[in-house]
Amino acid sequence: MSTIPPSLLLSAPSGVLQVSPLEAPSPLPIRFSLIIPTYNERQNIEAMVAHLSQLLDPVLPGEYELIIVDDDSPDRTWEVAQTLLVAFPQLRVMRRQQERGLSTAVVRGWQAAQGEILGVMDGDLQHPPEVLLQLLAAMERGADLAIASRHVKRGGVSRWSLLRRLLSRGAQVVGLLLLPGVVGRVSDPMSGYFLVSRAAIAERELQPTGYKILIEVLGRGQIQEIAEVGYVFLERREGESKVTGRQYLDYLHHLLRLRLTHGRGGRFRELIPLKQFLRFGLVGLSGVVVDMVVLYLLHDASTLGLGLTRSKILAAEVAIINNFFWNDAWTFADVAQQQRGGVARFRRFLKFNAVCLVGLVLNVLLLNLLFNQLQLHYLLANLIAIAVVTLWNFWVNLKLSWRVTAVKSSTHNGS
Ligand code: GDD
Ligand code: MN
Repeated sequence: MSTIPPSLLLSAPSGVLQVSPLEAPSPLPIRFSLIIPTYNERQNIEAMVAHLSQLLDPVLPGEYELIIVDDDSPDRTWEVAQTLLVAFPQLRVMRRQQERGLSTAVVRGWQAAQGEILGVMDGDLQHPPEVLLQLLAAMERGADLAIASRHVKRGGVSRWSLLRRLLSRGAQVVGLLLLPGVVGRVSDPMSGYFLVSRAAIAERELQPTGYKILIEVLGRGQIQEIAEVGYVFLERREGESKVTGRQYLDYLHHLLRLRLTHGRGGRFRELIPLKQFLRFGLVGLSGVVVDMVVLYLLHDASTLGLGLTRSKILAAEVAIINNFFWNDAWTFADVAQQQRGGVARFRRFLKFNAVCLVGLVLNVLLLNLLFNQLQLHYLLANLIAIAVVTLWNFWVNLKLSWRVTAVKSSTHNGS
């Protein structure tokens, strides 16, 4: 086996996780550096490298590098990668033996990279390589960050279990609640497939934990222009996912650390936009009137005299429809105008309804608690329950149902 030029075997940087700005232009200008973090991917790595080289050779001949960062995989992925170095001159391999973890592997790769555009994608072919060309095109058009997203047009996941979908979306909601100003900027903050300009993250100490390197880039980088491209997250053909419960704990820890050290999202006025809250409250009041009138018409002895809980649920649903209509037309009109069409509006209604239904459950629980345990008059109990749930409804709907990401629509793929 011919000897491998040492320049292709990258030594793992140590110390703070900080990407340096580009020195003077190097003799062999590399425009794009793509990091592929690997752990036990020996069955996938050759196909990955071959596919990517085939794709990038025509568009960036000699101006890109693929950097595999392997954490000393027990299946010796690093060894297989090294055997590919001769055949693929743009390939570099870093074998980390002191550190472990997806996000830090990516940052170490960026630290060793030479490109102006830095990227990351998984090493198991679940991220379709073709999408890279659209991401690169968006960077060439001036984006600071180009993200492959599962949650925009033409985006999705192939055969994910309902549990995995709920966990992924649940994680996103937690991120929206804890760090709205960061996580709320993009449609798929959990994406592990994106490109970022070196200038946007250079000389900023990164402190990621676990898997979510994109959230770290959004939280600490100088990111103005964001582009998103829809893609379908494919099924794994070889090997298995390394995601365990630990990743979810790491994620929470990561969010809290960003929140504490960063404070973005802590400023009250950003948390509670007062004008919208007042409008939401007024609309909520109109909903209370609708709720009360319908509750009276359904429950009171002098009217239909139906059971309290059943009447309450029906009354609340009518009020939800009323509130959605006014919130979409008035409170969040600016957002609604950016998401035109019946389908988009129906999606907002479904989200609004889902959030309010959770609120309704809270409402009924609270109503019965106050009525049965504290013996309050049922109308007073109802009023208190509605007030508490209004806060919940406003907060979550602002972050979920009427949410605009910081992405300009013109950058969506092909639409
Ligand atoms: N170097 C290194 N060190 N690489 C790792 C490590 C590690 O500790 N753990 C995982 N990897 C590599 C895997 O080998 C794979 O190439 C990539 O990181 C993703 O790991 P998976 O375990 O396959 O993750 P997943 O498919 O379940 O989740 C992926 O997709 C999600 C949806 O986009 C990840 O990219 C998630 O971050 C992402 O949210
Ligand atoms: Mn995977």
